[in-house]
Amino acid sequence: MTLPIRPELAGLEPYGAPQLDVTARLNVNENPYAPPDAVVDAIAAAVRKAAEGLNRYPDRDFLLLRGDLAAYLAAESHVDFLEPRNIWAANGSNEVMLHLHQAFGGPGRKVLSFAPTYSMYPEYARDTLTDFVTLPRRADFTLDIDAATAAIRDVAPVMVIVASPNNPTGTALPLVHVEALLAAAADVPGGCLVVIDEAYAEFRRRGVPSAASLIPAHPHLAVSRTMSKAFALAGAGWATSPRTRRSSMRCASCACRTT
Ligand SMILES: Cc1ncc(COP(=O)(O)O)c(C=O)c1O
Repeated sequence: MTLPIRPELAGLEPYGAPQLDVTARLNVNENPYAPPDAVVDAIAAAVRKAAEGLNRYPDRDFLLLRGDLAAYLAAESHVDFLEPRNIWAANGSNEVMLHLHQAFGGPGRKVLSFAPTYSMYPEYARDTLTDFVTLPRRADFTLDIDAATAAIRDVAPVMVIVASPNNPTGTALPLVHVEALLAAAADVPGGCLVVIDEAYAEFRRRGVPSAASLIPAHPHLAVSRTMSKAFALAGAGWATSPRTRRSSMRCASCACRTT
């Protein structure tokens, strides 16, 4: 029997980095250290409490969680202006990215990124029928910022996505370059969101500011963060944007791979 799978998905290999039985799983960028017992106990107690209310749909606004995430960003990234309404949380930053594509992408719309980069980006685009356009990075994996801003003007994407630090190269994007991307995006007819994927932000050099510090002046900036790497949770991810209003919580394993 033939099932009506979308033709462009037929025959595709499912995404899947090999799950190797080794200590350091560099191909999925997992933290090799398990969470401490105290964290495991706290999670177990919280799950127990949550289970008492499983007959109800969860609170769709998740204000406590979003407030806690804002407090974390204030402590870790010195961005003390975020409120719960600025935070969006989902089942990993993968899901946050998918939500962004569902909201902003779609047929006839383009997303621009800079290769080589995280191999899931084209998949979010494919799954939402969004065109995925890449500009090559320079030989040292930095962005040619003039070429990048020119590409934003030429391609007129609905979103520009840059990982900083980048996967798989570890390259950071200086804030002045984020600002240059934001300036170019502001001129795109119909609007363009700049998404800075800070999955590895906690590993940046001391004193380097998060792109989230630019949020107050740039309503078309979203910054995604995750608990799957530095927190050794491969579980909790969130994004911030001045325009986000709702939230949900993630608890799923990271399905990433390096390109
Ligand atoms: C650059 C980048 N962004 C996002 C993710 C996805 O992380 P999460 O576990 O939050 O879905 C990864 C995972 O490897 C990544 O490398």
